[in-house]
Amino acid sequence: MPKASIVLLASAPLLLAAVPPYFELLSTHVFLKATLVLLAAMPLLLTVVPLAQLYAGASFDPARVRGQRVLVCGASGGIGEQIAYQYARLGAHVALVARRESELKAVAAEARRLGAASAHAVVGDMGSSKGSRDALEASLKALNGGGGGVHQPLALDVLVLNHAVQRWGWLLPDAADLRAQAIGAPAAPWSAVALDQAVGVNLLSYVHLAVMAMPSLVRGAEGHRSRAAASRIVVVSSGAGKLPCPKQSIYAGAKHGLHGFFDSLRLEAEHKRVPVTITTCVLGLIETATAVSLTKDDVKLPMGQPKDAAGAIVRSAHAGAEELFWPSSQALHVASSLRPLPILRWLLDRVTLHMSGGQGA
Ligand SMILES: NC(=O)c1ccc[n+]([C@@H]2O[C@H](COP(=O)([O-])OP(=O)(O)OC[C@H]3O[C@@H](n4cnc5c(N)ncnc54)[C@H](OP(=O)(O)O)[C@@H]3O)[C@@H](O)[C@H]2O)c1
Repeated sequence: MPKASIVLLASAPLLLAAVPPYFELLSTHVFLKATLVLLAAMPLLLTVVPLAQLYAGASFDPARVRGQRVLVCGASGGIGEQIAYQYARLGAHVALVARRESELKAVAAEARRLGAASAHAVVGDMGSSKGSRDALEASLKALNGGGGGVHQPLALDVLVLNHAVQRWGWLLPDAADLRAQAIGAPAAPWSAVALDQAVGVNLLSYVHLAVMAMPSLVRGAEGHRSRAAASRIVVVSSGAGKLPCPKQSIYAGAKHGLHGFFDSLRLEAEHKRVPVTITTCVLGLIETATAVSLTKDDVKLPMGQPKDAAGAIVRSAHAGAEELFWPSSQALHVASSLRPLPILRWLLDRVTLHMSGGQGA
C-alpha cells in the first residue's frame, strides 16, 4: 500500500470536517457518527476486498479447466498472451484472436509447448460487428474440431474479452484553439475515426461477442451441476472503468460502459438461469509494451507484471468471482469505493490529474 494512499485515507475524516456543505447538511451528532463509520470502514475497505479475492482464488480448482474450450481475444501480446499461457499450462484448448498473424502464431506455438490441449491462431479484427462475428465463428469451429451446424452445435467454456486499442493524449484542444473552431474537433492524436474505433473495439465488440457467444457458452455448461463449473465470461477492464482518466477519456468512457453492461447482463443471466458467470477485472497499471510506451513520460507508478495479472484473472474467473481488483497495492478498490464522497472525489481527482501530467484549477 503506497504511503500516499495511507496519508490520504487517514486524513479523510479531517477533510470531511473542513467542508462547509457537510456542516450545513449534518448536525454535529450525525457528523460524528458519519466520521466514526468512515473511520471504521477504512480498515475494512483496505483489507476486505484483497482478502475476499484471496478467498476466491483459494476456491479455484485448476483440474476443472483441463480440456475446456477457451477463446482469448487480444492474445497476440501483453496480458492476453499471458492469459493464453495460463490456460495452456492448465491443459485447455485455446483459440487466440487478434489482427497480427505472425505474433499470434508464435503465441499459439508457445501455448502448445506449455501444454495446451490444442492452440489455434485466428486472425480477426474486432473493429466491426462482422469482424467480431467472423472471428467468433472461426474460433468456435477450431475449438470444436471443425464442426458446426445443426448436428454438431458449437460449444464454448470460457470467453476472455481482453482486446483493446489504447491512445494517450488530451482530447480537448487548448481553450484558445477551441475559440477559433466553428465545429469542435478533437486534439491530436485523436480524430473522429479514432473515437469510433476506441468505442467500437473497447466497448461495442465486447457487447456483440458476449451476446453472440452466449448460446455456445450455455452448451459448454451443459452437464455442469454447480456454479463452480458454469461457463465463464471474463471481461478485462481497467481502473479507467471505475475512475476518471484524463488523456484516456474515450478509453475510460468505453471501460465504464463495460461495467454498466456486464453488471446488468449478470443480473439478466441470474434471472434467466443462464449458467454463465461474468468476472469483470479492474486492472491497475500493468507493464506491457503498450502501457509502457503510452505512459512513460507521465505516470511514475510501480507497475504490475502481465504474468501475475493473468494468473489472478484466471483464478478469479474460475472461482466465479464477480469482480477482481488487481494489483491490490494500487488501491483501486479503495479509490473507487471512496470517490463517491464529495470531498474525497475532489481530492482524488486532483491526484489523478496530477498523475496524468495535468494541472488542477
Ligand atoms: N497494460 C495496462 O496497464 C492495462 C491497465 C488496465 C487495463 N488493461 C487492459 O488489459 C487489456 C490488455 O491490455 P495490454 O496492455 O495487454 O494491451 P496490448 O498489449 O496492447 O494488447 C492488446 C491486444 O488487443 C489486440 N487488438 C487490438 N485491437 C484489436 C482489434 N481491432 N481486433 C482484434 N484484436 C485487437 C492486440 O492485437 P493486434 O494488434 O495483433 O490486433 C493485442 O493482442 C486491455 O483490455 C486493456 O484495456 C491494461
